[in-house]
Amino acid sequence: MNKTSQLISLLGGTGALADKLNLQPSAISNWKKLNKIPLNKHNAILELSINLNVNIEKFLPVKQLPKIRAKILLIICGGIAAYKSLELIRLFKKIEIELDVVMTNSAQKFITPLLVTNLNEKKCYTDLFSIEDETKMNHIMLARKPDIILVAPATANIMAKVANGLADDLASTILLASFSKIILAPSMNPVMWNNSATRANYKILLDRGVEFIEPDTGDMACGESGAGRFPEPKLIFENIISHISESESLANQFKGISILITAGPTIENIDPVRFVSNRSSGKQGFEIATELTKRGAKVTLITGPVNIPIPKCEKVIQVTTAKEMLDKVTQQLPTDILICSAAVADWKFIPQTPSKKQFDINNKIKKSKNDNLFFKTIKNQDILKTIANSNLRPKIVIGFSAETKNVEKNGKSKLISKKVDLIIANDVSDGKVFGDDFNKIFLIDKNHCEEWNKQSKKSIAFKLANKINNLLTDFNL
Ligand SMILES: Cc1cc2nc3c(=O)[nH]c(=O)nc-3n(C[C@H](O)[C@H](O)[C@H](O)COP(=O)(O)O)c2cc1C
Repeated sequence: MNKTSQLISLLGGTGALADKLNLQPSAISNWKKLNKIPLNKHNAILELSINLNVNIEKFLPVKQLPKIRAKILLIICGGIAAYKSLELIRLFKKIEIELDVVMTNSAQKFITPLLVTNLNEKKCYTDLFSIEDETKMNHIMLARKPDIILVAPATANIMAKVANGLADDLASTILLASFSKIILAPSMNPVMWNNSATRANYKILLDRGVEFIEPDTGDMACGESGAGRFPEPKLIFENIISHISESESLANQFKGISILITAGPTIENIDPVRFVSNRSSGKQGFEIATELTKRGAKVTLITGPVNIPIPKCEKVIQVTTAKEMLDKVTQQLPTDILICSAAVADWKFIPQTPSKKQFDINNKIKKSKNDNLFFKTIKNQDILKTIANSNLRPKIVIGFSAETKNVEKNGKSKLISKKVDLIIANDVSDGKVFGDDFNKIFLIDKNHCEEWNKQSKKSIAFKLANKINNLLTDFNL
C-alpha cells in the first residue's frame, strides 16, 4: 500500500473522503494510483485530519503543506473561560497561522500576558496608550492587519461596548476601527446571556454582520446551569478554519472573468449650479464590486457621483451624466458580464422660458428675470437595453429595477423587454432602500422569481455572486 493510500484509509477511506471533500470517489482512487494528492487539496486534508484528530505528518508532512495564509487577531476578555483561549492559541500555532493576541485588563485578572506571549512566541498587546506599541504596531495597524478578529471568550461587557460603539480600551478600539470579519465566542453566566440587554446587543451585532459561535448549554463554573458555556476550543478552532477555507476556495472562483458594473446615480445639469439627480447611494453596486473582486474577477466599476468610499477593484471610472455613463460602458466592452446597478437618469431637463426660449447653458439662470421656469425633457438612452441588444452583448447581462409598486411584475416585464438574463427588482417606495445598508429584493430570470428576505446589501452581494457563479457554465464562461 503506497503512502497516499495509507493516508486515505487513515482519513476514513475513499468513499468517506470523497464525501467529505465533495469529490467523486474516482478522483480519490486516482490519487491512490498516482500516489499523490493535488496541492490545492492539502489544506482541506489538513483541516480534516485536525477534525478527526489524526496525525498525518508521516504521510503528508505538515511542514510541507502550504500554510493557511489568513491572519488572525485573538482578543481575550475577562471571563472565567479566559484560560481556555490558551488552548486556542496552541491549536493556531500548530498550523503556523499568523496570530496576534490582545488581552483586556479584566482578562489579565485570569491569565497573564506573559503566559500568552510565551505560548504565541510573540508580544501580547494589552495597552491602548503604550508609547512603544504605538510606534511599532499601533492600534489601527492591529485593527487592519487581520482577516479575522476572534473574540474568545467574549464577555457581556465587550458585546455591549461593540454594540454601542464604545472605544475605551485597546480591544474595543480595535473592534471599532476594523474592516475585518469579526467573530465572537461569548461565554457568561446564563442569566447574563439571557438578559434582555445582552439579547438586544446580540441582535444589533448580528444585524451588523458580526458572527457568533454560540455558547454551549450545561453546567457552568459559577454553579448555575443553562446557556452560556464556552464551547470546546477545538470547535472554535474548526469554525475559524472552515471560515478561512471557504474564503480561500472562493478566492479564484471568478479568475479570468471580466465584469463591468455600473453604480450610483447620474446627474443631469440644469445650469452650472443646479442639477437633477436621484437618491441612489451606490452602496449595493459597490458591495457587488467588492465581493466579485474578492472572488478573483477583473472588475471595472463605472460610478456616478457618490459619497461613500470607492471600493478596491481592477479599475474605477467616475462619471456624471447618463450620456457619459453610456459612453464609458461602451468603451469598456467587450466584457464577460455586465451588471447595471446604477440609477441612471431617464431624462435630461432643458430649462426654458415661458416662451420656450433656451438659456445659455454656461451661465446661472437668474431668478429675478425668470419667475417661471419650464423644462423640456429629452429621454436618455437606456444603457442596459442598449448594451443587451448590441453586437457586443456580454454573455451575462444583469439589471436592477427600482419600483414603487408591482415590483415583481414590473421586474419581469423589464427582463423581457430589455432582453437581459437576470433582474434584481427592489421596492424603493417611501424612500426605502436608497442609501440604506439593507435591501429586500426579487431575483428574476426567465423561469423563476425568488423573493429574498430583507438583508444587508453585503449579504445580497455575497448571494448574488454565488448565483452568478452557478450561471457561468450555462453561459459558457
Ligand atoms: C470571577 C469572575 C468571573 C467572570 N466571568 C465572566 C464571564 O464568564 N463572562 C462575562 O461576560 N463576564 C464575566 N465576569 C465579569 C467581567 O469580568 C466584567 O464584566 C469585566 O468588566 C469584563 O471586562 P472586559 O469585557 O473588558 O474583558 C467575571 C467576573 C469575575 C470576577
